[in-house]
Amino acid sequence: MEKHKLRILFVEDDDLMRETISNILSKSADEVFLAENGLKGLELYKEHKPEIVITDIMMPEMNGLEMIRKIRQEGIPVKIAVVSAYSEKENFLRSITLGVNNFLIKPISYRDLLKVIDDFANVIFMEKKIEDERNQRFQAQEELKKAHVELESRVIERTHELAVANQQLREFQETLQDKIEKSVAEIRMKDHIMMLQSRQAVMGEMIGHIGHQWRQPLNTIGLLTQSMLFSFRNNNLTDEVFDERVSKIMEILDHMSVTIDDFRDFFNPNREKTTFEADRIIRKTISFVENSFQKHKITLRYEKEDDCIIEGFENEYSQVLMNLLINAKDALVHNRQDNRKIAIRLSSQLGQSCLEVEDNAGGIPEEIRENIFQPYFTTKKDHKGTGLGLYICRTIVEKNMSGKIEIRNTNTGVIFTIRI
Ligand SMILES: Nc1ncnc2c1ncn2[C@@H]1O[C@H](COP(=O)(O)OP(=O)(O)OP(=O)(O)O)[C@@H](O)[C@H]1O
Ligand SMILES: [Mg+2]
Repeated sequence: MEKHKLRILFVEDDDLMRETISNILSKSADEVFLAENGLKGLELYKEHKPEIVITDIMMPEMNGLEMIRKIRQEGIPVKIAVVSAYSEKENFLRSITLGVNNFLIKPISYRDLLKVIDDFANVIFMEKKIEDERNQRFQAQEELKKAHVELESRVIERTHELAVANQQLREFQETLQDKIEKSVAEIRMKDHIMMLQSRQAVMGEMIGHIGHQWRQPLNTIGLLTQSMLFSFRNNNLTDEVFDERVSKIMEILDHMSVTIDDFRDFFNPNREKTTFEADRIIRKTISFVENSFQKHKITLRYEKEDDCIIEGFENEYSQVLMNLLINAKDALVHNRQDNRKIAIRLSSQLGQSCLEVEDNAGGIPEEIRENIFQPYFTTKKDHKGTGLGLYICRTIVEKNMSGKIEIRNTNTGVIFTIRI
């Protein structure tokens, strides 16, 4: 029979019997504690807490039943068997109420005793297994709970981290947005300032144009006024003559103010895109410069092959042409003594308007070709150029009107082409 790892308390007042049974028990148990009465038995029980108690009932000092009652008070489900003579039946009944687990009838047979111990051992083993499993399950549940709590706290932590990261991202985006807006505003401002600077550069040309436009009408007004004075002095200034002269002067003044309006329009940048006839703007722009060109003995030729309608800003378009014409004039005056020529051509190509401005001033040297569109690049000495003209031309054509500005040298000069 398999030896159980058990500790047994055996309580018996008969010395011989205690001795004999103890020998049998030690074969099944790891340890056997012996007591000769209930009091001693209780003491040993409290000291060693054995798994099994086998006790006689009738003993001095404290009987077996009293001892069992006290042991039960400890609250441990220790296995207890009582040993009693068959004649003491009432002891068995009383022991049932004390929760005794088994009985042995005197005289105790070796087999019965081992069977009781074996049964107890099995029950203890099963109980232990169940307890172990329960403990394991409990532990697993605890671990699960712990893991759950940990997971939850990690989720909370991670959510918090994400929220912080999100907030930072949002702030970053906002500052980025701010920076972009600021830079865009700065660039716009810079472009605007450059545009103004460039307009000032062509102002000289415009003022020359006004001067010229006004010289003739001012002359006429002078003559009309003098002739009125003459008639008045000679007493033949009739009402009709007076009215006629005054309305003539008013007509001339109206005409003069058109020149001023043109000038003012040119310096008022268009806010809204409109559709306009390229031909009309080209002619008006030519009229601004032709007087000064004549003075420099420059022949200006304009050919219109097709009608072109452009969507964009007409004043800016005019400004581009003006810049190109002034550049050509400057180059001609600088490089040529005679036969100074500028040709302007307007045509329609692949659904786009194509404006060409060609001169015979010798062209643009290869080494500065890349630079001429850079802001503030100029080859003109003594502050005669700001270097903004072509930069503004490109901004207007390519940024504001989604077109293209190109240059190519010819044998005698250069051709600027503007496609919009
Ligand atoms: N038709 C041309 N022939 C030769 N060189 C030219 C011609 N057009 C421009 N250039 C060169 O390109 C440079 C840059 O021209 P841009 O119009 O940008 O500035 P600028 O004429 O020097 O000064 P601004 O136009 O501001 O008065 C000129 O200084 C000149 O060297
Ligand atoms: Mg220029």
